[in-house]
Amino acid sequence: MIQGKVFLTRQIPQEAVRLLQHEFSDVEVWADEMPPPRNILIQKARQSVALLCTGEDNIDSELMDNAPSLHVVSNMAVGVDNFDIAAATKRGIALGNTPGVLSATTADLAFALLLATARRVVETDRAVRNGQWKISWHPLHFASYDVHHRSLGIIGLGLIGQEMAKRGLGFDMEILYFSTSRKRSIEKRYGFKYVPELTALLGQSDFVSLHVPLTPNTRHMIGKTQLQAMKRTAFLINTCRGAVVDQQALYDALVDGTIAGVGMDVTDPEPLPLDSPLLTMPNVVITPHIGSSSYETRSRMAIMASENIIAVFKGTQMPACVNPKVFL
Ligand code: GLV
Repeated sequence: MIQGKVFLTRQIPQEAVRLLQHEFSDVEVWADEMPPPRNILIQKARQSVALLCTGEDNIDSELMDNAPSLHVVSNMAVGVDNFDIAAATKRGIALGNTPGVLSATTADLAFALLLATARRVVETDRAVRNGQWKISWHPLHFASYDVHHRSLGIIGLGLIGQEMAKRGLGFDMEILYFSTSRKRSIEKRYGFKYVPELTALLGQSDFVSLHVPLTPNTRHMIGKTQLQAMKRTAFLINTCRGAVVDQQALYDALVDGTIAGVGMDVTDPEPLPLDSPLLTMPNVVITPHIGSSSYETRSRMAIMASENIIAVFKGTQMPACVNPKVFL
């Protein structure tokens, strides 16, 4: 039994808690639905040898300076924008995340948003409920845009971007991609087309789907200029991070008809305030950051996050380490 506290900032699937309980003398789970307030998080970190947290918990140098016994912080998420990676590495704290296990599930949701926006699924469901279905069938009733045989521009061909692109192939779409690193073998295997210029990709795509991590370089990478480069008939799909898009510019583009619509699982801020003007637009579909939220995937993520912690204490390789330099 490893002596020390592991603090879990949320309730997670029980099988993952049991894994930790099997190894550690003290496993404390924050039971409230709302995340622990900052002062509590810092206090718990100070008492802990490991934290299992989510992307909402800010793991910065202030927290780490107050936590002399902390060895590892494991995110139940693939995104790591809540981590100060350099500060953790400097202090010898290993950071874990959960890549891979959530890629297909997140791409499923991204494609669901693509279909929902293009074919007006949510808007027309609302119309039916509001009594606006007055004639059984009408030649141009709620006409929408085709998805099949159109072009899908992927920004960021990482694991989730690749899964999204593969779903597009199933709909006979032409797949274009823009990525910081060109992936020639994947390109060849699936017949994807690399577009080296972001603006060119935006101009050629009927659907643009974002799959980049949030970093200082990608914050607001889609702003007024980029939206203006898109076709007026094109849709934007965002399942990565809200702040990758300049939300004010997005709203303006929807009002001006610069683009046809947007499907977003992430917003800036989250939760999206109820008075957000985006919620007044019929051609916007918003889901509450549920990309990876299937029962199976959330369980896999929780187990992987727990295994990342256990590996550090057993001296085995972490399933996914964000800062492997700490072990050098
Ligand atoms: C969720 O947003 C994640 O990063 O896994």
